[in-house]
This record gives sequence, C-alpha cells and structure tokens, in this order.
Amino acid sequence: METFRLDKVTINIGKDKDELTHRLADRFVSLAQDCVKNSGRYAVALSGGSTPKAFYALLAEPEYGNQVPWKATHLFWGDERCVAHDSPESNYKMAVDALISKVPIPAENVHPTHGQDQDPVAAALKYEKEIVEFFKLGAGEFPAFDFNLLGMGPDGHTASLFPGSAALEERSRIVVANFVAKFNTYRITLTLPAINNSKNVIFMVAGQDKQEMLKTVLESGPPVLPSQLIAPAGKLDWYIDRAAAAGLDLHLFSPVSSGV
Ligand code: 6PG
Repeated sequence: METFRLDKVTINIGKDKDELTHRLADRFVSLAQDCVKNSGRYAVALSGGSTPKAFYALLAEPEYGNQVPWKATHLFWGDERCVAHDSPESNYKMAVDALISKVPIPAENVHPTHGQDQDPVAAALKYEKEIVEFFKLGAGEFPAFDFNLLGMGPDGHTASLFPGSAALEERSRIVVANFVAKFNTYRITLTLPAINNSKNVIFMVAGQDKQEMLKTVLESGPPVLPSQLIAPAGKLDWYIDRAAAAGLDLHLFSPVSSGV
C-alpha cells in the first residue's frame, strides 16, 4: 500500500482490490478497538453499491470479524435505495448478506431505514429521528460517525448526493429523501453537513471505470462535484486500487510511505 498526502487528505493506493480490501479492514478493526476503548461504542455508516461487498465479506471472516467488538458496534447506512429490504437493490440487504448475517452483532445495533419503499419523505424523517436519538443530538447538531464509508460513482456522486440534486444544497437536515432525476426515483441519504461532521470519512474506490472521475475529483478545482464537497471535520482517507489511481498525477501528492 502506497500512502500520499494532499492537504488534509490521505490517499492510500493498493496494488489491487484485494490489498485495498485488507488494508481497509485493518483500518476498520483498529478504529473499532480505539473507539470502543475510548468511548464505549463504534458508530459506523456503511455505503452501498458493489465496491464495498468484498470489504464487508472480509469483515465477516474470523481473521477480522473476531477482532471487532460487535456488541458495541452500531451500523447505519449513508444512503439507501427506496426499495424493500429484500430487494436485490437494497444496500441493507447487501450488507446483511455479506456481513451482518455472519457476525454476532446484536439486532438492536443495526439501524436501517424503514418504510423507504412506501414513503421516502416519511422514511427520511424516521431515520433522521433514530440518528438524533442515538447520538443524543440537540437542535442544529449533526452526528459524528466514527467510520463513514463512502463510494464514488462515475458521475462523481457519493452516498445518494448526485450532481445537481436538491440534497446537495441542504444545510440543516441530517437525512433527506433526495429525488435523483437520472433514475427518476427518490433515494434516502445523509446530507453534506451530516457526512462532514464525521470523525473519519473513508472513500473506497476501485476499478478502471472510476479512473477519469477520480482524477477530476482529486486534481481539479474548484470543488463542485458531490465527492469534492466531502471535507470532514475529522480525517478524510481515500482507499483506491491502482486501476482507479492510474490516471492520477502523483507528483501533486506528498508521499508518506510506500508500504510493501
Ligand atoms: C449506492 C451507493 C453509492 C455508491 C456509488 C459507487 O447506494 O449506490 O451508496 O453512492 O457508493 O454509486 O457504487 P459502486 O461501488 O457500485 O461503483
């Protein structure tokens, strides 16, 4: 794993998706142990899509799963499609199949959206209320996820914050139902202020199809794309594989270490 720094951003480049997944699992476990030791709990926001599936499956393996304090770990979702939980499109179903069904995490520690397939606006309000109660937030406060995992779409979207969508302008809500014109459907998503209040935001991006957009997001300015608007109060790390990183001009970044 090669590590570079660009301002407050750390960029970790794995030789392939397998190395990327293992190093990300190392980071997940080490953060879990630190957070539970220091605060008694580990609050995680999972991302959807296909990239994180192998990461979730690895966390379910004893090699990693046995190191995670599941009884103090709470799983939320950064975004969800407005489909039933048993739909193949569901981010919740993907995480249940790959991870949650295979580890001893208490049911009450798993916090999916509810009713998103019936009434997205009501589901967003209900999910927001659950986050407010979990983090004991006052008016105007935002959750501080310990580990907020994000993906990046080829159009530069992240979570379900798509270019040109209304949710990008939201500055007071924590969760909204965002109409995504390109899919002609609503998605439930954390808002920018909610994501940017996280202690650790981690992008996981892999594959040649992300190469061009990753170069735009990391090297071009001013920040206008959703993935460029992620600027957390805490740490921001990119975990990318060489296929996605191939277009980057690494001379722009300061090498921190070139791991084996
Ligand atoms: C979703 C995700 C979304 C995803 C990107 C990348 O609900 O689809 O949360 O933001 O992370 O679209 O998806 P892939 O990993 O499948 O490329």
